[in-house]
Amino acid sequence: ASYDAGEHASFMRKEILEQPAAAERVLRGRLDERFGTAHLGGLNMDARESRAIRRVKILGCGSAYYVGQMGAGMIEELARIPANAEAASEFRYRNPVIEPDTLYVAVSQSGETIDTLLAVQEIRRKGGRVVGLVNVVGSAIAREVDGGIYLHAGPEVAVASTKALTTMYLAFALLAIQLGRVRDLSISEGRRLVTALQALPEQIQTILDTEEELAAVAHRLAQARSLFFVGRVRGYPVAREGAQKFKEISYRHAEAYQTSELKHGPLALIDPEVPTVALVPHDELTDRNLAALHEIAARRGPLVVITHPDVDLGDLAQHPEVTRIEVPRSERELDPILLTIPLQLLAYHAALTLDLDVDKPRNLAKSVTVE
Ligand code: G6P
Repeated sequence: ASYDAGEHASFMRKEILEQPAAAERVLRGRLDERFGTAHLGGLNMDARESRAIRRVKILGCGSAYYVGQMGAGMIEELARIPANAEAASEFRYRNPVIEPDTLYVAVSQSGETIDTLLAVQEIRRKGGRVVGLVNVVGSAIAREVDGGIYLHAGPEVAVASTKALTTMYLAFALLAIQLGRVRDLSISEGRRLVTALQALPEQIQTILDTEEELAAVAHRLAQARSLFFVGRVRGYPVAREGAQKFKEISYRHAEAYQTSELKHGPLALIDPEVPTVALVPHDELTDRNLAALHEIAARRGPLVVITHPDVDLGDLAQHPEVTRIEVPRSERELDPILLTIPLQLLAYHAALTLDLDVDKPRNLAKSVTVE
């Protein structure tokens, strides 16, 4: 084969390790340091058309849908355009209202996922404008859309998507900055984000360098029958993606929740047998996040806290059930991508410990091309 896992144990691990290079490729030639903006010529949209957008609707399936949620968050935060993501598999069945001033964004690694493709066709049939965030050049979705951003992640073979997701996230960051800079995002804010984006490939590498430590944590998590992944606001789609990866390759039940909603249900399930992986970035919600984690520690629920070096866990650090994992800080709007990386390695090493086929989990396909 012209593309094989080579010296790596699996395609998934190879693709995880390729992320710094993939991140550089998706950003290459698209950042403008001088004006603190991004250039996305493939969108086929001039400044006036970009300004006329009143809403952004993102469509994708599986992990692409979760990255879409992260993207919607960035677009709202940086461009102040109302944005949300929806599972493409549900979209067309509710006879959606298609608006001329909405920008529809289809996200897909393969460009062949049938539900995403049919959503694109339905929107275009009703006169909507759709752009694609697609990895495979010339794929069905890439051919159907009005414009787009190619991800340049390179071939991805493992069913569980890793490097393609990272490039999707970065493409959303570029889109958010470009849409922001024709609105109220200032040149200095734009430059702050461009500088942060340029630092990300190296920051991803520093997380990959902690693989051994993450593998040890994964060995313990793999013993649990059921786990929670929790985060708030920017961290919530990260938790969803983390739970998805974990369940699809380790076959352990993993459920994502907003940390703020724990007290409305899941706390009833917390005991020493049910671990929680919690995302606690340094942001405006750190203290509230930590308060919720005390509720878990009080019930002796094992906790893996993924956080930033300058976050003080306070009393929590004394609990024997608490493990701390650190990722470097970016700018707060871009933190989610760095929080996602350790979750990939936790899922990967949990599946490896359980002696499962990490590249080809049972019952799942790399791309779902029939309805
Ligand atoms: C399948 C894969 C997922 C992927 C999803 C969407 O479910 O197992 O890893 O996220 O399809 O695929 P796409 O090619 O559209 O990104």
